[in-house]
Amino acid sequence: MKIQVIGSFLVAVLTLAIAPSYAEQSDGQRASTGGAQTLQDVLARQKGIEVDESFRRENLGDPDKAQSINNMLGTQGGISNADVYRGIRYSEVDIKVSNNGPAADVLVQDGGISWLITRATSIRGYAGYGIGGILVALIAFYFTRGRMTIEGGPSGQTIERFKSFERFGHWCLAGSFIMLSATGLLLLFGRAILIPVFGHEANAAIATFSIWVHNNIAWVFMGSLVAIFLMWVAHNIPNKLDWDWLKQGGGIIGNAHPSAQKFNAGQKIIFWMTIIMGASVSVSGLSLLFPFQMPMFAETFALINAVTGSALPAELLPHEEMQLSHLWHAIVAITMIIAIVAHIYIGSVGMEGAFDAMGSGQVDLEWARQHHDLWVEEEEAKAGQAGR
Ligand code: HEM
Repeated sequence: MKIQVIGSFLVAVLTLAIAPSYAEQSDGQRASTGGAQTLQDVLARQKGIEVDESFRRENLGDPDKAQSINNMLGTQGGISNADVYRGIRYSEVDIKVSNNGPAADVLVQDGGISWLITRATSIRGYAGYGIGGILVALIAFYFTRGRMTIEGGPSGQTIERFKSFERFGHWCLAGSFIMLSATGLLLLFGRAILIPVFGHEANAAIATFSIWVHNNIAWVFMGSLVAIFLMWVAHNIPNKLDWDWLKQGGGIIGNAHPSAQKFNAGQKIIFWMTIIMGASVSVSGLSLLFPFQMPMFAETFALINAVTGSALPAELLPHEEMQLSHLWHAIVAITMIIAIVAHIYIGSVGMEGAFDAMGSGQVDLEWARQHHDLWVEEEEAKAGQAGR
């Protein structure tokens, strides 16, 4: 539920951020359309601007507002066609449909326009600048700070850092994440980048392949996420040592080597980010994979409203739930990609000796002493006890 709350909150912030101010229509204009929509309402909605539609939404089912029974539109016993159409527009009439899917009786909804615009502008912009920005920052960091080396050089002696099943779990998670990121980004940017360069046909083939990979590899990601959680949660409970480590900036700037157990505070942040955001991206992904079966935003908004007194929409149409899941899925995934790019840097070129932990599983003893001194002490104490 917490994940849903955070998710919904960010969606709400995003919605507010992208909505330019929309001046309410004057009564005069509304009067000229007989109280119906004005051209400006329609244009504003097409631009993704929020339009206050209470003048239509609340104008339902009142026979006094309908054409009288002996007028042209008054053939339905005091309820005009306009009233029925408004009812259909806001899903407030009982409709019989031949298809009994969960969203089949919603005949009209207009959330698609703001979903489309948000995806094409804010989400693509966030992904482009965010991922581009972290790559530029890491390249700049590499050329200014340089590679973090083992002080005094490697000792030549090694200690086992991760067992083979732990490395297998990590590489399943990493491999699936990288494939999901690549195919997700192809789907996000296909229309903007692939179509102008390679044409519609090529983009269609790439998108079909990408969604197939994405939908199938997601199961590997979810499975390994659970495995990683179970294997490492005990080593990732925050404690006072983490605070000291963070105060010293983890020794990344400067040459300090703050004390750490198996995982330092920086790694714990990566761990919890992976677990929490990985769970959130998985749940929103499942709701996309099983359309209309897992609505969760309306309930979350209602909860946020109850706690904060806000006025988020606590009633959403099935399609709006899907649109929000889709946007949320992209926001969380992109945030994860940005953080994981930094993780991959530190675990490979950024730090001498780090990759061995996930490569052979054996790390240099001097590396281990400099980055995880308390863990080495624990391991040596265990080995000493076993040798007795
Ligand atoms: C090519 C890509 C990657 C490389 C080279 C890499 C490297 C590493 C290394 C060396 C460690 C162990 C650090 C230590 O000794 O303590 C590690 C740990 C970890 N990795 Fe990766 N990794 C990669 C991709 C990923 C991805 C994509 C994810 C998640 C989606 C991930 C999640 C984790 C987590 C949660 C840990 C434990 C916490 C930590 O050490 O930060 N890794 N990785």
